[in-house]
Formats: sequence, structure tokens, C-alpha cells
Amino acid sequence: MKPQPIVGGIFNPDLDQVRWLGERVLRSLAGVTPPRVLDIGCGDGTLLLHLAAMIPGASFVGVDLSRANIAAATTAVAGSIHRSRITLACEDYLKFDAGRFGLIVASSSLQAITGTTEELAAKLAGDLVPEGQLVHVTPYRCAYNSGLNVARRLLRRWRGTATDRMILAAARLLHPSYPIDRLRQRVDYMYLVIRRHEDALRAALERHGLQMVAGELAPHTSLGQPKHRFVVMTHGGQRASTR
Ligand SMILES: C[S@@+](CC[C@H](N)C(=O)[O-])C[C@H]1O[C@@H](n2cnc3c(N)ncnc32)[C@H](O)[C@@H]1O
Repeated sequence: MKPQPIVGGIFNPDLDQVRWLGERVLRSLAGVTPPRVLDIGCGDGTLLLHLAAMIPGASFVGVDLSRANIAAATTAVAGSIHRSRITLACEDYLKFDAGRFGLIVASSSLQAITGTTEELAAKLAGDLVPEGQLVHVTPYRCAYNSGLNVARRLLRRWRGTATDRMILAAARLLHPSYPIDRLRQRVDYMYLVIRRHEDALRAALERHGLQMVAGELAPHTSLGQPKHRFVVMTHGGQRASTR
């Protein structure tokens, strides 16, 4: 049987992490404006709006499987001065066809997409224009993430009110200063297993002609979250001059 994705509720990201990623996206563009930008797993639209403010000449597409997230993103975009440049879609990225992009961003979403890593790599490579860039933040292979994945698989098997309560209690202990609503949002996401690591995705993308041009470890802000690597990949390993 094909694995079914667990679709989470609203995911409001940590604003420091959005700014951290936004800075690196700008740096990777090196002053060149991509006409079209895609955010895969755009969540509540916070990163899209942040990037729209930083890259005034570009148009943006956000795709997310979660209805709750797209509803939150739609409200946020509707109230923004950037609304005419942002389109949203509630779809599975693997089935989503919106043309090609000069920049594709994905913040902690590529590990969750069902389908094989090969299918995902082919789709990403095909959705980029020849000089385009893929900028993503994805869990990497390490003992910490393997342990967390085992715990999440077990939680997923026994999922119910008791496991929801247990996760929320652990989250309150770990993050006593976090608003309770934010912690509740994260409960669904504790059942998401890492379907692929950045290392395996990179190898598959390399088979499709992309190469890594920048990479660094992302800040690890919670024990309940996997450890992520930030990566920039381009066709042929060249930093783009036009897109
Ligand atoms: C951990 S959240 C990250 C959200 C956002 N990128 C951020 O950093 O705040 C992962 C997101 O990926 C979305 N997602 C998972 N599988 C997807 C798929 N196949 N296609 C599109 N979005 C997907 C989820 O619905 C969720 O909003």
C-alpha cells in the first residue's frame, strides 16, 4: 500500500528561522532577481511574504498539501501589499504543475513528501529553469535524526489522545516560555517521519545535473525537531547570472 502523508494543521514558523533563511536566500541570489519563485510546503505563508518584501521584482507561488495552512496563508497574503504577486495552491507538490522557476525554496518540507526520492529529484530538476537555484533546508543523516525518526514511527503507530497529551506535556517542559497554541500546533508534526535525508536527496539531484554550491547546518531550536542542513543547488554547480 502506498504511504499516506499525515497532513498537519497550521504551522506558524519561528520568525528568527524565517529571517535566518531569508538572509541566505538573498545571499544565494547575489543581486539577481528570479522572475518566478516557488515555495514548496509554504505553510502559513510567512516565508513567502518575507521573500516577497525582499525580492520586489519577483512573482511567487506557494504550494502546500495542508488545507489549514493554505487557508492561513490565503488570509495572510490577502492582507499584504504583496498580494498581487503571490499565488497559492493546496496540492501535493509531486502532482503540481505551475511551469518553471528561477528559484525554488523549501523549508523543512522535502523530507515529508511521499513518492520516491528519485521522483522528487526529477520533479525539482524539471521545475527549475536551466540557470535556476534550489534552496532548501532538510534534515540530514545523523544519529540524532535516526533516533528521532524511530520515536516518531512509534508515536505514529500508537497515535491517539494519550500520545497527543504526552507530546504536548513534553513540549511544555522543553519550551515553558512558548505560547501554548504554538506548542499545540506542533503536536501533529511530531508524527511526521523523515522519508528522506538531505544527503540522499542531494545524490539524486546530482544524477539530474544539479550540484551543491553552498551548504551549512541550520540552527537547531528544539529537541523535538530534526537537525537540518541548509543547501543551495544549481544545474551544473554554476551560480546563476540570469534566470
Ligand atoms: C514542517 S512544515 C514547514 C512549513 C514551512 N515551510 C515553514 O518552514 O514554516 C512542512 C510543510 O510541508 C507541507 N507538505 C508536506 N507534504 C507536502 C506535499 N507533498 N506537497 C506540498 N506540501 C507538503 C506540510 O503540509 C507542511 O505545511
